[in-house]
Amino acid sequence: MKKIISTILSLIFVALPLAAQVPVTKTDPETELAMIFTISFIVFVIATLMYIIGVMDANIDPIANLYFRVKNYIIPPPSEAAADVGHIYDDIRELDNRIPPWFNYLFGLTVVFAFVYMTDYHVLGISKLSTDEYLEEVVAANLQKKIMLASGGSINENALVALKDVESLKEGGENFQKFCISCHGPQAGGLVGPNLTDEFWIHGGGIKNVYTTIKKGVPAKGMISWELVFSQKQIQNIGSYVLSLQGTNPLGGKSPEGQKYVEPVVALAKDSVKVKTL
Ligand code: HEC
Repeated sequence: MKKIISTILSLIFVALPLAAQVPVTKTDPETELAMIFTISFIVFVIATLMYIIGVMDANIDPIANLYFRVKNYIIPPPSEAAADVGHIYDDIRELDNRIPPWFNYLFGLTVVFAFVYMTDYHVLGISKLSTDEYLEEVVAANLQKKIMLASGGSINENALVALKDVESLKEGGENFQKFCISCHGPQAGGLVGPNLTDEFWIHGGGIKNVYTTIKKGVPAKGMISWELVFSQKQIQNIGSYVLSLQGTNPLGGKSPEGQKYVEPVVALAKDSVKVKTL
């Protein structure tokens, strides 16, 4: 009879943690709290029953025995001498060594930690679960993407084109007048910096080169990098504005510097259809 009861109890004991793995769809704090208390209570009742069954045969007072055991765990006995169980196998004597106290304390700590953790993360929700952290990061990333797109977005520098629309050129021109004329002159004819209206370029003409020069600057020659001042779109606008001044030949412009720039002919991709010449 005793065996059957303890087997059933053991089975329930094993099944409990498994039951805890079942995902709970509704997770408001009250439900979770109720669940934690219910499970804790069931575990407590089962453990007490198992304990009582365990000492039933020994003809001792279970409560007094429990008290003695708990006391023994918390305050270790002065001597390390272990009880001789009375078994000798191959000249090896079996001793009932007590569990080291530090191990018991550690176990107690894990119980306390589990309780604090459960209350913090699942019941009160003060700390964030990793799903919430993930969602928060996604929201932040989306926001950042929006801001970036609003400020002109990320421009594909390999597929950069010189803009021709009035809005972009106007904005580029305004920034040019504010930030660039001190060195390049109001009509971009050149002062300290070179003439930007001719076909001759030190760092290459065409929107891609001009974009890169403005972005990175020529620090060695006194032109700063504008990367941190302007957005990518703004640099594209300024570059387009500069190129729109090609051939304007302003009065008092500096003589050409660098090399004549010829826009390279875009090479055909390998798999594009070739026109057959008969
Ligand atoms: C402090 C002076 C200074 C300012 C301000 C300045 N630049 Fe320059 N810039 C220079 C100098 C000097 C060079 C020539 C660099 C060299 O000799 O390699 C230059 C070169 C350039 C070139 C390359 C010219 C070439 O021949 O390849 C471009 C394009 C250019 N600047 C655009 C701008 C734009 C656009 C601005 C404003 C956002 C600007 N610069 C502001 C001094 C300046």
